[in-house]
Parts: sequence; C-alpha cells; structure tokens
Amino acid sequence: MKSNFRTVIEPFVIKSVEPIQMTNRNERKQILKENHYNLFKVPAKDVLIDLLTDSGTGAMSSAQWAGMMLGDESYAGSNSFQKFESTIQEIFGFKHVIPTHQGRAAERILFSVMCNNQSVVPNNTHFDTTRANIEFQGSEALDLVIDEGKDPNSLFPFKGNMDIQKLERAIQKHGKEYIPLCMITVTNNSGGGQPVSMENIRAVKTVLKQYDIPLYFDAARFAENAFFIKMREDGYAHKTVKEIVHEMMSYGDGCTMSAKKDGMANIGGFLCTNDDQLAQMEKDLLILTEGFPTYGGLAGRDLEAISVGLQEVLDENYLAYRIAETQYLGEHLTGIGYPIVQPPGGHAIYVDAKALLPHIPPLQYPGQALSAALYLEGGIRTVEIGSVMFGKVDESTGEEYPANMELVRLALPRRTHTQSHIDYVIEVMKELFNEKDKLTGYKIVKQPKYLRHFTAEFESI
Ligand code: F0G
Repeated sequence: MKSNFRTVIEPFVIKSVEPIQMTNRNERKQILKENHYNLFKVPAKDVLIDLLTDSGTGAMSSAQWAGMMLGDESYAGSNSFQKFESTIQEIFGFKHVIPTHQGRAAERILFSVMCNNQSVVPNNTHFDTTRANIEFQGSEALDLVIDEGKDPNSLFPFKGNMDIQKLERAIQKHGKEYIPLCMITVTNNSGGGQPVSMENIRAVKTVLKQYDIPLYFDAARFAENAFFIKMREDGYAHKTVKEIVHEMMSYGDGCTMSAKKDGMANIGGFLCTNDDQLAQMEKDLLILTEGFPTYGGLAGRDLEAISVGLQEVLDENYLAYRIAETQYLGEHLTGIGYPIVQPPGGHAIYVDAKALLPHIPPLQYPGQALSAALYLEGGIRTVEIGSVMFGKVDESTGEEYPANMELVRLALPRRTHTQSHIDYVIEVMKELFNEKDKLTGYKIVKQPKYLRHFTAEFESI
C-alpha cells in the first residue's frame, strides 16, 4: 500500500493470533456441494480468507480487551453504560442513547415506533436489514441515490449522495404526512461503500426541514465517511475527523448504529434520538425484547469495548491505513482487468459481476457464480450483492425480477489481515480472471420469504 511517499503500514503490531486451517481445492469442492453453494452455510474453519463481511469480524485492540475487564455487569445503571452513553453523546451529539444488541435491533425499534403500513422511508440506498425492517412494518423503502451512484464506472467522489430532486419529488408524490423520517446511510454500503458529502447532507436537511421530516443516519461506517469528506471535500482538509463527524450528525435528529462496523466491536449497536417522546416509546419497546435501557441486550463488557472502539476509530492514522488497504486491493484488481465499482469505497471492493461475466444472465446469478469460484479456487469467502440478495419474486405469478446491479463484495474486516493476505487474494483473482469465461450460472432450489441470501440453496447450471 503506497501513499505519495512511503508504504502505508498497518498502524499496529499483532499481539494475539488465530491460526488459519488450510484446505485444498478438492476439499473445497466437496464443502461447496455439501453446503448447497451458499457461502453463508460454509463453516468458518473451512475458509482461508474471510471477506464475507466487515461486520463484527475485526480485531479488537489491547485497550478494548483491557476495557472489557472493567465491564460493570449491573442490571441497572452500570458504570459501563454511563461511559457508553457519554462517549456517544460526545461524538455524535444526540440526546438519548439506547443500546441494542446490533444495528438491526435499533432499526426494528425505530421503525416500529415511527412507521405504519402507509409510511414511506427514503434513503440513499437502504441496507438489506433496513429495507426488510421497513417492509416488515408494511411501509415502503425508497432508494434515492444519485444516478452516478448506480454507474459502477463513474469516478464521482461522493457516489453515496442522495438525489435532492428525487427526494423533493418523492415528498410531493407521497405527501409529507406519509414520510415519518428520511435516512442517509454513511457510507452507502449497498451502493458500493461510497461516501456522502457534507454538502449533500446539508442539502437533504434543508429540504426535510421545509416539510418537518426528521433525518436519521444509518451511521454504521460514520468514521470512514468522515475521512472521505476530509480527503475529498473542499474546506475539510484541516478539520479533524471528530469535528467532521460532529458536523455531519448535527444535521440529524438521530441515528441507528451497528457498532460491529465503526464501533470496532464484535457485537453491539445503538439507537439515538433527540426526541424525548420517541425515546420513551423506544425504551419501552427495548425492555420488551432487548433488555433494560442501560444494557439493551449487551453485556457491560461489550459496552466498554464499544466505548473504546468509537474513540479509536476516529484516529486518522487508523483511517488512512483502512482506506489505503481497500484502495490497494481495488487498484490491483482493476490492473488485472476486473470491473469494480469505482472509486474503491471504504470497507470493501465490489466487483461488477454482470460486466465480468456477460455470458451469465442476471437471473442465473453471475455474482453467485463468481463468489462460489473464489471460494473453490482460493478458499476466499465473499458475498453476492445482486439478484440473490435484492431480486424480487412476484408472489402471485412466481416471476422473478433481477436487481439493478450484480456485485460481489470483498469486505475487509478491520485490523485483521496483513498485506500478504491481500496479495494472496490478488493472486487467486488473477488466476481466476483467465478462466472466467468457463464459469457457469446457478439456480435457486430452495428459499425463505425474507432475506433469502442467508439460507437459499443453489444448484449449478
Ligand atoms: N446498516 C448498514 C449500512 C449495514 O451495513 C448493516 C450491516 C446494518 C445496518 C445492520 O447492522 O448487522 O449490526 O444488525 N451490515 C453487515 C454487512 C451485515 O455485512 O454489511 P447489524
């Protein structure tokens, strides 16, 4: 990983290691078959480099582990909660902090309280759990990302931005009384981990203010987004990431957060709001399924790990390394000839499988084909973000509609892999590139009603 001057080194040393269990191609062929070609079903011990997700899979720091020993496990009013609450209030600036066991629990509570079966919730691009939780309320989830955000080749620096005209039109079409909140996902995971500019956040807020619609952030990768603003947006180069985060959040009325991402923890999340009445309703629901409001389904030690993680993620040496690692992988894959979502995002590289494998039609899941091949050839686990994840099946006719894009995501867990791990991924993908025309598609032979990608079973065509 190079900056303009020298290699960007991992800004840490390794204090504890976990061995990788090696497998060969024949073994992996069998493992794939046994698990119906769904990589979510493959046991982690059979994976060499796990790029399935950056969620909860990162390494914690020695300070986080030390913090865990301070965990106060009192049921009510623990010290660990007080630290958690004050850390989040200080960084994010929201009034009420409600701990949850992960991001989707915060989403479920938020939408249960704010939405009904006539509601419409705009976002740049909803993450799959966000969309599913909105639809579970009978509400509609609208994706209003700018057109550049749907063009894998566009080099626009803020491809996570929301289209302000589409937002205005959506409000006029549906009526402000049917839009209980608007969300912005930073960074825009489902659109390629692309950042949202401060200018765009401000513009969204200006529109929403006219109609009295609250703005909530899906803040999972808030620090990565802030670092992109620092690097790419005029007027922010000399601000600290913490100052940038503060400004971003100042335009919001609350947020949902998966602390498994930029919380640098293995589990956890939270929901924030400035609204006293909503906070009360949210806490009532929290008690029903997550736990008392000072632990919300988490152990005191988890609250400690998150409090430390949220401070560490703001370290600009860490963020510079984080973004350089992703860019290093992206640039090498581009060099081989892989079409990827450009420019490289924060936490992951997204290969455009539709462009890579034009001989496999979308409803034969080119992303699934690439993902399975990466596992077979190199023991690398990735995730399809295409028609398996976002394809729609019309329940009355059984007809299936493909997603807009057929992507394969290589997500980088935080502080987990060295550069030689990444070099290995690049080597495997170089070999696979030469064989890509031989890959074939898949069909789904079994699937559940919601979030089918987790459990669907496939057969090779
Ligand atoms: N929002 C975004 C933008 C996410 O990326 C995720 C999770 C969530 C919400 C839900 O959080 O997992 O803590 O319940 N993304 C993971 C991923 C699963 O692999 O991208 P959670």
